[in-house]
Amino acid sequence: MESIVDKISFGGIVAIRDSLLKMQSEGKKVYRLESGDPSFDIPPHVRDAMIEALMKGYTHYTESTGIRLLRQAIHRKVVEENKIPIKDHDHVLVTNGAMHGLYVTFRALLLPGDEVIIPDPMWTEIADNVRLAGGVPVRCILKPENDFVYDPADVESLITSKTKAIFINTPHNPTGAVYPKKILEEILEIAIRRKLYIVSDEAYEHIIYDGLKHVSIGSLPGAEDRTITIFSASKSFAMSGLRIGYIVTNIDKIIERGKKLLRCTINGVNSVAQYGALAALNGPKDYIEEMRREYQHRRDMIYEVTSRLKSLKPFKPRGAFYIWCRISDDWRDSEGNRSDWAMTNYLLKFGLGSTPGSEFGPASSEYIRFSFSCATSHLAESLEVLKQVLE
Ligand SMILES: Cc1ncc(COP(=O)(O)O)c(C=O)c1O
Repeated sequence: MESIVDKISFGGIVAIRDSLLKMQSEGKKVYRLESGDPSFDIPPHVRDAMIEALMKGYTHYTESTGIRLLRQAIHRKVVEENKIPIKDHDHVLVTNGAMHGLYVTFRALLLPGDEVIIPDPMWTEIADNVRLAGGVPVRCILKPENDFVYDPADVESLITSKTKAIFINTPHNPTGAVYPKKILEEILEIAIRRKLYIVSDEAYEHIIYDGLKHVSIGSLPGAEDRTITIFSASKSFAMSGLRIGYIVTNIDKIIERGKKLLRCTINGVNSVAQYGALAALNGPKDYIEEMRREYQHRRDMIYEVTSRLKSLKPFKPRGAFYIWCRISDDWRDSEGNRSDWAMTNYLLKFGLGSTPGSEFGPASSEYIRFSFSCATSHLAESLEVLKQVLE
């Protein structure tokens, strides 16, 4: 009999990364526009807090939901900054990155066969985590004319008697779309009327451009008892390898099930990393703005180059660090193919990493994603190569 895990793929992105790393080990120059890992180092006060934790011997088991001081700091942050009225720090769960937060959320929320509405395109792991929890991802196609945010009427048309939740991701991976408050209000109104939960992935909350403000759907009136919000330290504080994420929700059943899942999966996140996250939340924050500004500069660089190329039609990202480009109708590789994989494989020959759109959903095979989380100098070199090989 097939296990649920057999339904999960190894992911095309991993195959692309492996090819690039192999080329690199053979001495070839590679350009890492497939990877979404911040180029920045962690700030000194975060590093020092982790060293201090080690020196003080804070290397034992912690509470499996996260150290109390960290959960208190997270509680303060979500109430003050995100305006999400979470009851107290016992409604916070610290997870092994937002990835694990999503796993715990869907596992705690879903019964076998429950449907979750998710976007197409969407970062691959969302559909996989819904499936791992026994649920069924139902795709809502995002359209360029809606700036790649949900059309509330499309969302409503997908609701069935099995729908349990609507999944939201803002800023969005892979398109860089940012949800306006009005659309969030309309989605919430549907969720209230149709008695659905909302799962909101806000891993890129701090990476947002052009003066736009991140809005948490959990902050809107009526959302407080039906929303589960997942955040990450990976992008906000460039702590991707340290694996800190967190779930906040007022839904007691999710907290109760989440506690059991935390006990049986990780039994608490790495203690030293938790002290790092505590310092990140309590310490100076100016570096968040510095990183944001640098990402915006990179966004401008890549948008300018891709919008001049005939083979690509980019959507200008308003957040996150990805650019989503439609492959032009007349682009062909040397064998006459026009698919997303054809373009990714063509670019790979020149050591250029990218991710084919279909990795993010079956309706997205005319698109390709480039990441600009790498160092600005690396991006500049990569863009020169991109220009040469696509022009
Ligand atoms: C939309 C989205 N959510 C969550 C994550 C997971 O982040 P992490 O597990 O590093 O916290 C990612 C990572 O790329 C992402 O793109």
